[in-house]
Amino acid sequence: MQKVLALVGSPRKLGNSELIAKQISRHIPEPHSLLLIRLPQMDIGPCLACYTCLFDTCPQQDDFSEIVEALLESDALILVAPTYLLSANASLKKLMDRGLSFYPHFQRLWDKPAVAVAVAGIPGMEGYTKLCLESAVRLMGGQLKGSEVVYGALPGEVFMNHENLQVVETLAKALFGPAPDWQASPWRCPACGGDTFRFLAPHQVRCMTCSSPGKVQISNGSISFAVDPPEDHFFLTLEGARRHLEWLRGMKQRFLEKKRELKDICLDYRNEGEWLQSRQEKKAM
Ligand SMILES: Cc1cc2nc3c(=O)[nH]c(=O)nc-3n(C[C@H](O)[C@H](O)[C@H](O)COP(=O)(O)O)c2cc1C
Repeated sequence: MQKVLALVGSPRKLGNSELIAKQISRHIPEPHSLLLIRLPQMDIGPCLACYTCLFDTCPQQDDFSEIVEALLESDALILVAPTYLLSANASLKKLMDRGLSFYPHFQRLWDKPAVAVAVAGIPGMEGYTKLCLESAVRLMGGQLKGSEVVYGALPGEVFMNHENLQVVETLAKALFGPAPDWQASPWRCPACGGDTFRFLAPHQVRCMTCSSPGKVQISNGSISFAVDPPEDHFFLTLEGARRHLEWLRGMKQRFLEKKRELKDICLDYRNEGEWLQSRQEKKAM
């Protein structure tokens, strides 16, 4: 029996994101259990940028560690989030801001199968929501088996369009299926399957999902991308991810070596401008 974890980014109970996660589960051919986490309901504090999690567990006492545990225990992941103002809503970003905590667990997380769905209310207005979801899967060490955008504004509206049921069913079947052959889709990044690129100069691009640099090729009016991922790229191989973790850990030593120099730079800006006080700061006065 496989264990499937669904991370649902919507605060709306029985909203489109929740329905999609459950509909994917209904169509996964393999016997499985489904554990759902409604991200906006979870207490996930902001990252304190202390880097403790690279060496030990995160010192914050909130729901994050339980989410990590659920992720570690799962065999596959369904990630669904609504579009708010052209991106995945903040609940996903709150989770991902704590994502350095995933790094020490990459041995267990690496290549965990995942599918992702971005929900948007207005056709064409999904902005970079799909990119947010694909990046989240990658940063959790997951293997993306498929990702889609579906449209529907009112709760349940996504399934008034029967094509969306088909889309979701296809993702469900892909979840425990073979790894996708991204090379077969020329408009995608051949290294990771991402379809969002930043154009840096004529013909020069960078995949915004795996960060690989590359070139645009146009032949017979069709566009394709030739990317050149650095060897052992930290988004693409477990070895690369391990090396990135060691590089991050080394930051502590680099900080200690340059502490005095850095302090001089920072202190020069200490007394500039006035800060608007938060309600909490005002109360404490
Ligand atoms: C604050 C807010 C901002 C939104 N911004 C967008 C947007 O930029 N583009 C879009 O297509 N839909 C937008 N929507 C619509 C939602 O993406 C849509 O209603 C979706 O179905 C919500 O999913 P849910 O039912 O899972 O909550 C927005 C909704 C809210 C509440």
